[in-house]
Amino acid sequence: MASLVCADCRREYSCGEKIWKCSCGGLLNIEFQPLFPIDKIRSRKSNLWRYREAIPLTEDRNIVSFDEGFTPLLRVEISGRPVWLKQDHLFPTGSYKDRGASVLISKAKELGVETVVEDSSGNAGCAIAAYCAKAEISCEIFVPADTSPGKLAQIQMSGASLNKVPGSREDTARAVLHAAETNYYASHSWNPFFFHGTKTFAFEICEQLGWKAPDTVIVPVGNGTLLLGAFIGFRELLQAGIIGIVPKIVGVQSVHCAPLSQAFRQGMKTVPPILKQDTLAEGIAIAEPIRGPQILRAVENSGGAFLEVEEEEIKEALIELARKGFYVEPTAAATIAAIPKYLSQLKRDETIVSVLTGHGLKSTEKMLKILAEHH
Ligand SMILES: Cc1ncc(COP(=O)(O)O)c(C=O)c1O
Ligand SMILES: [Zn+2]
Repeated sequence: MASLVCADCRREYSCGEKIWKCSCGGLLNIEFQPLFPIDKIRSRKSNLWRYREAIPLTEDRNIVSFDEGFTPLLRVEISGRPVWLKQDHLFPTGSYKDRGASVLISKAKELGVETVVEDSSGNAGCAIAAYCAKAEISCEIFVPADTSPGKLAQIQMSGASLNKVPGSREDTARAVLHAAETNYYASHSWNPFFFHGTKTFAFEICEQLGWKAPDTVIVPVGNGTLLLGAFIGFRELLQAGIIGIVPKIVGVQSVHCAPLSQAFRQGMKTVPPILKQDTLAEGIAIAEPIRGPQILRAVENSGGAFLEVEEEEIKEALIELARKGFYVEPTAAATIAAIPKYLSQLKRDETIVSVLTGHGLKSTEKMLKILAEHH
């Protein structure tokens, strides 16, 4: 049986409770025993629910799914070296957030939830809105007012009500808390079920590499839903004896908003809030990551690191990717911009996996601006 356990006071709750944080205010994690029946998994449909016994949902009938996941893992040459790129921009709503939304909204359905609220820099809102539409759960999404118009349209087209909050991403996070008092908070950073969806990223990579872990995984990090999901997933595979070591996890931030990278460099265990500057990489522009200490520990335990990328490097990577046919949003390009930096300090050959996290069609206005600058 799965249970919710507070990261601060260790208080335990049943997974049947409609809660998203501990009564002490602490973050909740899920404790349960995942299983990996490999022969069965191999014979199932190629979506993320093939790892059913590793997903903490009680009844199959509550699964809310578009057959998402098991995205292609492509070998691409970067700086003359082969790197595996997970094509997570090809999810139904155009970002990897569908991994978390499918599991979290399935759990909401299992709990009999009728309305959810969520705050997002855009993509998580798009994902939660679409899965709520499928589950017939009503949903209100809070976003910063300056979020990409494509994402705002996508959220509204799903039938969600949209609440545009003036100011920063942090102002949006504060605005939702009031609504979260009376509605189920489908938060991708607070709610632990989201991470038990994003962890399927690790399962798929291992399976696609022949049930082997890569040496290094390079992922973008703002609130850490992919980074922590990857860490949880690889650790579960390790505990099940399927892999021998958790890969090094490398988190990528924008120089304009790098609170985790800065804290890590200074050997800190917590993450002081920073003053951020505007960045093209809106998806990782998180100045106060809620699970900051947990992210620092995950990167440290994996033997990984943080890398920072400049605006100009993001733009160049975006254009270079698009010229190769990979049309992704700037936040996804930021991750790829960090790969040459990682390769240049590498001392031996490694199997490296990275990811394209969001589709380019979400950011048409940014693309038009870049095109105008280049002509
Ligand atoms: C395209 C894209 N990549 C990466 C991220 C980073 O995710 P997180 O903030 O959970 O670390 C986001 C978050 O919104 C995103 O939209
Ligand atoms: Zn607690």
